[in-house]
Amino acid sequence: MCGIVGYIGHRDAYPIIVKGLQRLEYRGYDSAGIALYDGTSINLSKTKGKVEDLKNKAEKGISLTGNLGVGHTRWATHGVPNDVNSHPHYSNSGDLVIIHNGIIENYESIKKELTKRGYTFKSDTDTEVLVNLIEEVKKTEEVKLGQAVQIALNQVVGAYAIAVFDKQKPDEIVVAKLGSPLAIGIGENEFFIASDASPFIEFTNNAVYLEDQEMAIVRLGKEIKLRKIKDDAIAYPKILELQLNLEQIEKGGYDHFMLKEIYEQPHAILDTYRGRLLADQGIIRMAGIDQHLEKFVNANRIIIVACGTSWHAGLVAEYIFEDLARIPVEVEYASEFRYRNPVITDKDVLIAISQSGETADTLAAIKLAKEKGAFVFGVCNVVGSSIARETDAGAYTHAGPEIGVASTKAFTTQITILTLMALKLGKEKGEFSESKFHEYLAELENIPAKVQIALESNPLIEIIADVYKDSSNCLYLGRGYNFPVALEGALKLKEISYIHAEGYPAAEMKHGPIALIDEQMPVIVIATNKGHYEKVVSNIQEIKSRKGMIIAVVTEGDEQVTELADHVVEIPETIESLTPLLTTIPLQLLSYHIAVMRNCNVDQPRNLAKSVTVE
Ligand code: M6R
Repeated sequence: MCGIVGYIGHRDAYPIIVKGLQRLEYRGYDSAGIALYDGTSINLSKTKGKVEDLKNKAEKGISLTGNLGVGHTRWATHGVPNDVNSHPHYSNSGDLVIIHNGIIENYESIKKELTKRGYTFKSDTDTEVLVNLIEEVKKTEEVKLGQAVQIALNQVVGAYAIAVFDKQKPDEIVVAKLGSPLAIGIGENEFFIASDASPFIEFTNNAVYLEDQEMAIVRLGKEIKLRKIKDDAIAYPKILELQLNLEQIEKGGYDHFMLKEIYEQPHAILDTYRGRLLADQGIIRMAGIDQHLEKFVNANRIIIVACGTSWHAGLVAEYIFEDLARIPVEVEYASEFRYRNPVITDKDVLIAISQSGETADTLAAIKLAKEKGAFVFGVCNVVGSSIARETDAGAYTHAGPEIGVASTKAFTTQITILTLMALKLGKEKGEFSESKFHEYLAELENIPAKVQIALESNPLIEIIADVYKDSSNCLYLGRGYNFPVALEGALKLKEISYIHAEGYPAAEMKHGPIALIDEQMPVIVIATNKGHYEKVVSNIQEIKSRKGMIIAVVTEGDEQVTELADHVVEIPETIESLTPLLTTIPLQLLSYHIAVMRNCNVDQPRNLAKSVTVE
């Protein structure tokens, strides 16, 4: 799970690569490196740390000239994050340079073989093995770089997005993909290579996304040629016109991407239902469902697979689908599902939820379900991502790029799309009256404005954050639709502030977690007026009598919980099934402020990466 960038053309490669790497740091940020070809030699600089550290080192240490170069920002898989293990890696001759995102699983046996033939290795990485394998093939088979890459890749097992160039032939970069994403931006006699389109968006809107098992020779003065790595078949590049713009991928005046993305939610939710929710006509239009309506309506059950925050959105969806569409739902961690031997039939519909569309476990779960005959529907944010391409049908959330590692707008837009789906299916199945349906549609249209109101609690939440910023533990409680929100609140806090936090269904507290409660323990309780309100009030009383500190998220005008709690944050009134779209807002803001106050790196928390493209 790393970010890769390459450039070949008429501009200075250095600023393009460095800026590109900074935009890709969401993919990994434990070390970074760059290699530039200046017309005679390759200048390479790499370091443990972030792209900013690389910039400082490279600008003092190497010549930055050249119109050809590659760069890498890393999330370590093989070998600890240090200068030597950072990419790019040279081949033994010093002619070939590679950057790699992925894992070569059989690298040890290849390394042994190469060592016998006299190769030496500086790093502990699988990538250095791969570049030397390419060199060995090139030498022994007397083939060009493209062919050498192809032959070598047919010997490796694993996943990769790679870019390789040869000092002896500096008019081309060879790229290949299996399992990790790779985009080629096409300019006027110049090419950009990257893990996604963000590094080249200001230079070109035209891009080709490589499919799995494809490679390309990107050569100056020539059109891109794609071929299949396995059998050499020619593949024809589909040039896409990108919809991204620069402003979407920059911070826009906010201190952090996470805060920007929290504040983008009213718009993002609106963009999710725009053109789909036609409240005045009483219609929900979703092409991916309309074309496969029978599959959904006749489904024995829906299985939802996802990871992390997307899994929490899946849990909310379980309540929504069962409640509104009366279809049985099972929600599975993709990483568990893929290694069980799940009972799946062609009457099952599998919904895969993923912001990035690149999560390895989710992708593997999809493949398994497809093999067993299920119909697979994807809910993704990133257009053209691997999951979006692998599924039988799907719906994009249209949330815009989410850069902060902590997912925020992805969660609320996923819930929005899943709600639309459940409402549409419930209507088709005749599960509720016309008037109820209209009531839902009208209220969904009100949600962006209500999220905006929920965001106005920000100053109050900052004050609350200051009180609890030094806590070591936190408990999050919710019931029904808001139990998954409690899990999500706890995940947000632990991933960016490193405070231990647990989410629980409020009623489960007395089966164990209540033992943790003392005067040091902040308990965040979601206590909206719909859905088991009185029972949550009892849970709050149980906490209070054990001296726990209560921060409650309540519906505006609440009196009972307000009386009991140490702090209350109000959200506007809404239909019960839509409350997660509002209750999650204060929890996102709370974790954000606590992380800032603890001087944590909000957008790039330690040990994490935005897309988890490895198991
Ligand atoms: O891109 P995906 O939605 O498939 O990612 C799944 C998880 O890796 C992701 O939600 C992760 O848990 C976030 N860091 C949570 O904020």
